[in-house]
Amino acid sequence: MSEYLQNMRRNYQCDALLESQLGDEPVSLLQAWLLQAIEYEVAPVEANAMFLASVDGYGRPHGRVVLLKALEAEGLIFYSHYGSAKGVDFVLNPYAAATFHWPGLERQVRVEGVIERVTADESDRYFHSRPLLSRLACIASPQSQPVASRDELESRMDQVQQQHVQSVPARPQDWGGYRLSMQRIEFWQGRPDRLHDRINYLKQDSGWSRERLAP
Ligand SMILES: Cc1cc2nc3c(=O)[nH]c(=O)nc-3n(C[C@H](O)[C@H](O)[C@H](O)COP(=O)(O)O)c2cc1C
Repeated sequence: MSEYLQNMRRNYQCDALLESQLGDEPVSLLQAWLLQAIEYEVAPVEANAMFLASVDGYGRPHGRVVLLKALEAEGLIFYSHYGSAKGVDFVLNPYAAATFHWPGLERQVRVEGVIERVTADESDRYFHSRPLLSRLACIASPQSQPVASRDELESRMDQVQQQHVQSVPARPQDWGGYRLSMQRIEFWQGRPDRLHDRINYLKQDSGWSRERLAP
């Protein structure tokens, strides 16, 4: 297996990332790359899936995938349970890093910044846009808590379904949106022979600064 992994090698040649293509701010480039990833990545790849890292109270990192649900000038919006492991990390340490990997385009984007909750109104709006069974599952599932068995989870779901036969489920107070306010955005474009392009934007008091990083 190790030998197989050592010999896995792809020469990146899809595209380049040159200063002549760059603007003063990174959010429009992130938007353009995301749109291209949505268009070009072959189903069933979820181009809006991002690897999200948080850090707990002991300084230990934890990673998982979440789905980007909105891209705003101020930040990346995703939804989760506020009582989950990541939710607890964010209370103790409100910083996070999100990484997109779009292999078909030989691209990576790394976003780092501060975590805050979106308003209750924003969370309500998104919650009510979700399919009914997703909303019910969200009520039935105490994310990141141990459950005795699959049966227990399914019987929780049955109960919640019965409770909402005639009523519209309300958003659980401990579920909602987070905004990752972007302080650093790094774009990586694979290039031949491992001489890749890396462009790093850093948020300043007004606007963004930009630098090229060695690959
Ligand atoms: C493709 C994919 C998309 C996911 N999207 C979300 C999401 O948007 N929100 C979420 O809370 N968990 C999502 N998850 C589940 C998380 O990876 C994770 O299991 C969950 O949030 C609990 O993480 P935690 O215990 O670190 O808080 C997704 C997982 C995958 C594989």
